[in-house]
Amino acid sequence: MLSLVSPEVEQYARDNTTPLPELLQELSKETYAKTALPQMQSGPLAGQFLKTMARVINAAHILEVGTFTGFSALMMAMGMAEDGRITTLEYDADNAAIARSFFDRSPFKDRIEIMVGAAADSLKTLTGPYDLAFIDADKTNYIHYFDTILPMMRSGGLIMIDNVLWSGRVLHAEAEQDESTRAIAAFNAHLRGLAELDKVMVTLRDGITLVVAP
Ligand SMILES: C[S@@+](CC[C@H](N)C(=O)[O-])C[C@H]1O[C@@H](n2cnc3c(N)ncnc32)[C@H](O)[C@@H]1O
Repeated sequence: MLSLVSPEVEQYARDNTTPLPELLQELSKETYAKTALPQMQSGPLAGQFLKTMARVINAAHILEVGTFTGFSALMMAMGMAEDGRITTLEYDADNAAIARSFFDRSPFKDRIEIMVGAAADSLKTLTGPYDLAFIDADKTNYIHYFDTILPMMRSGGLIMIDNVLWSGRVLHAEAEQDESTRAIAAFNAHLRGLAELDKVMVTLRDGITLVVAP
């Protein structure tokens, strides 16, 4: 992923952000050692951002689409309400196994559930209401995930969508052959069209859009 800010600025921001706890540092290392695309994990700055969002809205019911090895779920868990719960969706059993092993070592062992399978299928079995949702899986399904999750949110709940800038490639999406680039640009256009929704695209890491559920 192309960094949208210089490495020096990124490091400065990290140095001025709450440090990652030991368990998350270990998870990050294991993800780099055992997976082919470790850069998919949200990382310290975006992770702390997710945790902060969970904390300020005191999220009790959280839904995540795209667990990977569990980094973002654990960060949100650290910010959620005392009795909070997370349901996280992942189709790759190997990724889910790494995530589970780290969840089991955390204080949130019994409060994070991983549903292994295609997210679109898992979503059919869920009803909400959710306080917080994080969409971070296959980009070609972003519109479907968003449109399915929006009605499951409580009023005032927050949906966060990752990678909405896609290393800046969305700026020239019509010239791109890459399916994900075109899908993200189409998703961003879809959201722009939903003028009644209050939203902000935050230029953090690879871009995260926040949408407040009406
Ligand atoms: C960008 S990674 C998620 C990163 C994670 N949120 C984090 O910060 O560590 C995307 C994940 O979505 C999963 N995924 C892709 N397509 C999926 C689908 N159709 N259903 C469920 N999971 C899917 C991938 O296996 C991958 O683990």
